[in-house]
Amino acid sequence: MNSPTPIHVALIMDGNGRWAASHGRERVWGHTNGTESVRACIRGALVAGVRWLTFYAFSTENWGRPAEEVDALMELLCDSVVKEAPELRAQGVRVKVIGARGGVPEKVRRHIEQIESETASGEKLTVVLAINYSSRSEITRAASQIASKALTGELSPVMITEQTLSDQLYTAPMPDPDLVIRTGGEQRLSNFLLWQAAYAELYFTPVMWPDFDENHFNEALAEFARRERRYGR
Ligand code: FPP
Repeated sequence: MNSPTPIHVALIMDGNGRWAASHGRERVWGHTNGTESVRACIRGALVAGVRWLTFYAFSTENWGRPAEEVDALMELLCDSVVKEAPELRAQGVRVKVIGARGGVPEKVRRHIEQIESETASGEKLTVVLAINYSSRSEITRAASQIASKALTGELSPVMITEQTLSDQLYTAPMPDPDLVIRTGGEQRLSNFLLWQAAYAELYFTPVMWPDFDENHFNEALAEFARRERRYGR
């Protein structure tokens, strides 16, 4: 019997730029308004009893955006972390960050470390922020780490299992996502949790991220509850 409530929901927050343009504003305004949708999903997850909520906040490909947009996104991440930490703590939320941390600006790294330590005791929900994350580079890094262990004799190639690879991912030891939601109308995973989402239910909505509210989040959960998961059986 499938659980009607997903344990882990992952979100691809797409549509900020188009939403801003449709209001005659700069793209960054869309990102700023998108933070309210992040809050709404956290509220929805806490009420529904979802235990893990992962947001694709910044991909390794996003560095290719105009410098002003990249800088604004980095500032937004820092500001959100400072502003939200007390409330998240009070709600029993723990924040964790996945991705190539060494590649993010020093200031952002300090903010990440700060929110992770300030919320470390949260037990109700873990909010995971994927920052400077891409699934292919995560898997490549895991393969490289496994190869190094094989070279030193710490690991024998015949002993390598799916779990060995999972253990080397940024997401270890998180459970795999049960549900991946993408807003903004596109229907693809864009290098997000490719290994982990092998059996996830995918939910695509045309709603632009800044318009995605708690009701939309609950609709996605309701749709998940109607799906039958067979895991290839
Ligand atoms: C994609 O929309 C969105 C992003 C690349 C950034 C999402 C980031 C936030 C909402 C900032 C706050 C996040 C947290 C976790 C505090 P897009 O710009 O690609 O939109 P478009 O497809 O309409 O151009």
